[in-house]
Amino acid sequence: MRKQIVAGNWKMNNDSAQTQALLAEIIAKKQEGGIAKVVVAPTFVNLQAAVQQTNGTGIIVAAQNMHQAESGAYTGEISVGMLKGIHVNTVILGHSERRAYFGETNALLAEKVNTALKHNLTIIFCFGEELADRQSGNHFNLVESQLREALFHISESDWSNIVLAYEPVWAIGTGETASPEQAQEMHAFIRNLIATNVSETVAKNISILYGGSVKADNAREIFGKPDVDGGLIGGASLKADDFLAIVNAI
Ligand code: G3P
Repeated sequence: MRKQIVAGNWKMNNDSAQTQALLAEIIAKKQEGGIAKVVVAPTFVNLQAAVQQTNGTGIIVAAQNMHQAESGAYTGEISVGMLKGIHVNTVILGHSERRAYFGETNALLAEKVNTALKHNLTIIFCFGEELADRQSGNHFNLVESQLREALFHISESDWSNIVLAYEPVWAIGTGETASPEQAQEMHAFIRNLIATNVSETVAKNISILYGGSVKADNAREIFGKPDVDGGLIGGASLKADDFLAIVNAI
């Protein structure tokens, strides 16, 4: 059984008090014995407190990014060692906003993947097409190139550290969700691509999350598709009741 995961990407939201309050509400309201593995990704400044606050709850705290170098003259950046030093062992890489606003390329992401794997981090790897790619029928080729150029060099055993997050850029923050059928079609394509290029075992076991305007009222239908193993949630993860409704939709 593949891991069923619901991760909240809080992006650049919530100061320390707001982070503490949101986490307290999620922890208090989270149902015991749920199937989904719950992940939250606060901003860097709130990670250490979030790790301490979620200790013993089963909730995993993830970073939203990290630098590819292990240390050095990179003003404003955070290294893998700094994350591990505060017991953060999961990192989101390749989010479309980092690709768009900070010029992160597939080649750069391959370097970040290598550094994260060297230190045994779990990677939630984001990818997905722009609207123009889909409208021109190029979305499968685009997604394939993102995966080939950033991930297909890793060893078969390293894939156990990878969680994939398909996030069509045109669905992020727009309220325009991919239909369950569109999500299933792309997830099945991705799983087959991995079966062909890595192994059937990896393809069977890897969790592929969907992200892009997942809400409490659409999560159950999307998560019900056979190749969708959960979601990477933005806006709806900032309210405990909305986020937990999505968690409980698994
Ligand atoms: O990383 C998840 C995020 O990009 C999705 O955002 O607000 O469409 O759920 P949202």
